[in-house]
Amino acid sequence: MSKILLPSMMLADFGGLKEEIKALDNADVTGYHIDIMDGQFVPNFGMGLQDLEYIRSATNKPIDVHLMIDNPDKYIEKFADIGVDVIYIHPEADTHPTRTLQAIKDKDKKAGIAINPGTSVESIQPYLSIVDYIMIMTVNPGFAGQKYLDFVDEKIDRLINPEFKNKYNYEILVDGAISPEKVEKLSKKGVKGFVLGSSSLFGKDKSYADIIKELNDL
Ligand code: DX5
Ligand code: ZN
Repeated sequence: MSKILLPSMMLADFGGLKEEIKALDNADVTGYHIDIMDGQFVPNFGMGLQDLEYIRSATNKPIDVHLMIDNPDKYIEKFADIGVDVIYIHPEADTHPTRTLQAIKDKDKKAGIAINPGTSVESIQPYLSIVDYIMIMTVNPGFAGQKYLDFVDEKIDRLINPEFKNKYNYEILVDGAISPEKVEKLSKKGVKGFVLGSSSLFGKDKSYADIIKELNDL
């Protein structure tokens, strides 16, 4: 099964972003994962709109934007108009997630929910027939370099179980502390996409191309 491999660009070398994107494009990453944070929903600030606009101008590959912001409904048009391909909202941060998810689809973008480690399957059930993707956070959102939270595996198992999953059309991605070992284990279970950060891609002594090839071969 081909994997969706997405470098988490908050870890990119912003001193050489043009070269980073060229190297990642040439390494044949599937697309890019852009973390947007508001200092409210998460206690951090990721990239800004200018960063996103630059990355959009520098690659033709798909861009996923991960909105770790309160009231994401206010900004769907803005992100859609920048030209991203997939917009993930946190239902925990939205008073009316189904309306926001529909607004994403009305802009002809793929709609995803990103769910915190403590968010239950039951609580997201109403959205499962609407979304194209579920991004399961395997760390508490807001920072890179954290430890994988093992208790989330049970939720992954429930959402990946064909008896449950086959009633819907979503694919599953995981985001947070994803190592090559996690890519191997979770892809074998049917997880489709992996956000690659400090545990697998950035700051390693191998080329991006070698790493991406190795991850695709797992
Ligand atoms: C965390 C972000 C992740 C993070 C992944 O809130 O959503 O995308 O950057 O980085 P690692 O893989 O280092 O956890
Ligand atoms: Zn993310």
